[in-house]
Amino acid sequence: MKYETTIKPVSEGISLAANLIKNGQVVAFPTETVYGLGADATNEDAVSQIFKIKGRPQDNPLIVHICDIGDVNLLCEDISDMALRLMRAFFPGAFTAVLKASPLIPKSVRANLDTVAIRIPANAHTLQIIKESGTFVAAPSANISGRPSPTNAQDVFTDLGGKIPLILDGGECEFGVESTVCDLTKDAPVILRPGAVTREMIAKICPHVRIAKGVLKHTSGVVLSPGMKYTHYSPNADVFVVKADAESVLAKKINMLYDSFTNQGKKPIIFCTEGEPYAKKNVRVLGKDAEQVAKSVFSALRRADENGFDTVLFEDLDEKGMGLAVMNRILRSAGFKVL
Ligand code: TXA
Ligand code: MG
Repeated sequence: MKYETTIKPVSEGISLAANLIKNGQVVAFPTETVYGLGADATNEDAVSQIFKIKGRPQDNPLIVHICDIGDVNLLCEDISDMALRLMRAFFPGAFTAVLKASPLIPKSVRANLDTVAIRIPANAHTLQIIKESGTFVAAPSANISGRPSPTNAQDVFTDLGGKIPLILDGGECEFGVESTVCDLTKDAPVILRPGAVTREMIAKICPHVRIAKGVLKHTSGVVLSPGMKYTHYSPNADVFVVKADAESVLAKKINMLYDSFTNQGKKPIIFCTEGEPYAKKNVRVLGKDAEQVAKSVFSALRRADENGFDTVLFEDLDEKGMGLAVMNRILRSAGFKVL
């Protein structure tokens, strides 16, 4: 289906979006993490449209967004005390709980798994859209599958313009990376995808929290979360994560790599937290800490493509706090290429 896509300020478009969702349509809206592409999770046809519009593999399940924690009892089964404690602590917010699905969740939403991912967003506009839609909203990130997630309305339009009727514009997202996906079906929580609700925050409630194997490493074979096995967040440019044994030599190494790529006729750009060591080179300072880097990294990857850079050298970040989410995303966009 072809659409003339309207972009509207989110504060003026809540009822319109909610009505479109009610009527089985697919719309894009901001959340505090990234922009979402939402449809009625109980409507099989609307859900299949999401997969089609994004070009998403059928075996990659969607997150069901709700606005009332009480509904978890309707949508999920076998909820442990631990799961309840974590949901009470982190709902609403950048936290997605994977739980055993009740039969109410259509199989297409959960890609035939017997679990379902549930999130209550904290963004007041997103909550209002869900509430007014009167249903549960399945919503992946509002990008073409494989591309960096969109953190502003223009980046949604670039990917999905002409494919959906409405994009609500809420400016830049607060966090810039997607929610923490956490498997709560086991004895201890397992982080399948790190996000703004950090391992350290979860550990305060459940000290035995684990991080799934595929979060920072390439894994083959069975993965706990289908999303882990696909190429993700990839711009056209070739991305490399640059690491060094000692922090003092990291900038030197990046400078040497930059010169070597330039000599090969490439057009590199350095993504870093401080521009000073890279004077006279093409540099994008993503921010001074992991939170700021998270907020700008996806749009910076898109801008690198638009400005004709073919090589991105990403300065390694410490994997603590939000740094874990950033490294998870950038390693995937690099196809795990580390120099
Ligand atoms: O912040 C977010 O989570 C955003 C906003 C829009 O809410 N949504 C989002 O959705 O990032 P998506 O579809 O781009 O990523 C959902 C991830 C995928 O990696 C998927 O494989 C995983 O969650 N997932 C969904 N259901 C699952 C399940 N039952 N078991 C394991 N992983 C699941
Ligand atoms: Mg996504």
